Amino acid sequence: MEITDQYLSLKGKVALVTGAGSGIGLAVCQLYAKYGAQLAMVDVSDSCQEKADQLCATGAQAKFFRCDVRREEEVQAVVADVLNTFGHIDVLVNNAGINVRKTVLDTTVEEWDRCIDIGLKGTFLFSKHTVPAMIRQGGGVIVNTASGAALKGVPDAAPYNAVKGGVAALTRSMAVDFGKYNIRVNCVCPGDILTPMLIDEGLQTGQITTADPQTPEEKEAMARFVASCGDYRPLRRIGTAEQIAYTFLFLATDMSIYATGGSFVVDGGRCS
Ligand SMILES: NC(=O)c1ccc[n+]([C@@H]2O[C@H](COP(=O)([O-])OP(=O)(O)OC[C@H]3O[C@@H](n4cnc5c(N)ncnc54)[C@H](O)[C@@H]3O)[C@@H](O)[C@H]2O)c1
Repeated sequence: MEITDQYLSLKGKVALVTGAGSGIGLAVCQLYAKYGAQLAMVDVSDSCQEKADQLCATGAQAKFFRCDVRREEEVQAVVADVLNTFGHIDVLVNNAGINVRKTVLDTTVEEWDRCIDIGLKGTFLFSKHTVPAMIRQGGGVIVNTASGAALKGVPDAAPYNAVKGGVAALTRSMAVDFGKYNIRVNCVCPGDILTPMLIDEGLQTGQITTADPQTPEEKEAMARFVASCGDYRPLRRIGTAEQIAYTFLFLATDMSIYATGGSFVVDGGRCS
């Protein structure tokens, strides 16, 4: 058998990534661009424009599309805009999400709705409006960002656990419904990854008091918090956005050509 790298390429592919302006989504865009994809970078934050510009400066083709993934009319308009701009969507990465670190007792209805709507409804909406184009094209790939929280209870994170369990279940649902159209659907279940969202969790749980430590005490608290996210895992560390992005690359390329409906756990061994 001749070994070629045809399975490890996104050349000629268009990838739409939500939550593309920061953390995991941004790292996925950077890696996909490196392997030849054109990027539709979707985010609610205008700071994503600068990230798209930076990617273009490296020779990649990337464009920012502003969108709140909770709003169907915005999602529909963005999908149409991306199709007009690039002609097709081969890879959809449903990645936008927030965390609410509270139990059911402490969570307000507004916090519940916000967490569920961004993480789960957003995944539903982008899939709903992108899959028809994939069916017309003869196939496609969807990669959803779930979490270790989809598989194991994270304390004081009831809405988030519910979102991520839902994302894993929706992944399986779409895999069985759309397999016949040559659409593969998988999700990634990352453990703690050093991103602004993780830092925000530290603020919510009171383990740190600032996202921008200046004093020796603040710096020590930050180091302690980051260490505490990793030291109970078999690998004794947290991951980086770049490290987890490689799993998204595996799932978007033909390297995973026979994989669908799966939850790919990359969490330093916590869920083992
Ligand atoms: N960081 C972790 O430890 C970790 C672990 C497991 C899973 N995840 C998941 O990874 C995904 C990305 O998280 P991250 O850590 O990179 O966080 P992040 O905060 O760095 O990035 C999230 C991005 O989503 C965008 N976003 C938020 N609300 C949006 C909305 N309504 N519409 C469009 N975009 C919106 C934000 O502007 C931001 O750019 C999330 O789904 C998160 O739950 C993160």
